[in-house]
Amino acid sequence: MLSDAQIAGYLADGYIVLPGFKPAAEIAALCERARQIVDAFEPSALRSIFTTHDQARTSNVEFLASADRVHCFFEEEAFDAQGQLRQTKAQSINKIGHALHDLDPVFQRFSHGPELAALARDLGLLRPQLWQSMFIFKPPGIGGEVKWHQDATFLQTSPCTVTGFWFALEDATRDNGCLWVQPGGQRSPLRERFVRDGDAVRMEVLDTSPWPGTDDAVPVEVQAGTLVCFHGLLPHYSAPNRSAQSRHAYTLHAVDASSHWAESNWMRRRADLPLRGFV
Ligand code: FE2
Repeated sequence: MLSDAQIAGYLADGYIVLPGFKPAAEIAALCERARQIVDAFEPSALRSIFTTHDQARTSNVEFLASADRVHCFFEEEAFDAQGQLRQTKAQSINKIGHALHDLDPVFQRFSHGPELAALARDLGLLRPQLWQSMFIFKPPGIGGEVKWHQDATFLQTSPCTVTGFWFALEDATRDNGCLWVQPGGQRSPLRERFVRDGDAVRMEVLDTSPWPGTDDAVPVEVQAGTLVCFHGLLPHYSAPNRSAQSRHAYTLHAVDASSHWAESNWMRRRADLPLRGFV
């Protein structure tokens, strides 16, 4: 799947960009299915807002239950002071998570296959286990910022094996909130871990190394169909989307079954939904 030079680049930089990985028809089918899921979504009185600014607000029942279900989360700025949506429901959703890849047939097809299995092997995942999937909307105007973080904070294993697969479903630019990464930053320590204790979650500081400065950040501007893979320790962020264009993306996170899954991770799997790899 990958050339030796591509693998060497991934090991050096902590990420790899693969343009044209997914054909337009598969992307269109995924986006259409996401639209249907949002259409059918009836928000409860308890609104789930995903934000990395205020982790306490994510410690609700719907968030924890979404680990092995399909649930829609609103943007932090979706509601006005009166509690009314500022935009249409379809343009107010932050993401759908976190078991789309195992529960929805369209997402299941998109998330599995020999190309992805071969790619995962090349990236060092010998026995991949797909823990989570997210359809990220980054809607126009209110698409929220995601501050510097490392994905291993949320999917901790020892050794660290979590690997992110980030599919651009629309063109991602600096204007609509593309990813920014710190090349080589995967060699820095894990700074924080997101810990679950019963039905409560909290962020624990593990290492006080500073986050990269703006000079160290590289924008990953990519066209729809591109797949970006990155190491679980690679620092990355995305800016708010204040543009008129959405920036849809779909992500998968896999760990290697040979690494030890931290019991304190927030995600739990029910027994009737075993973890699978890419095939
Ligand atoms: Fe991330």
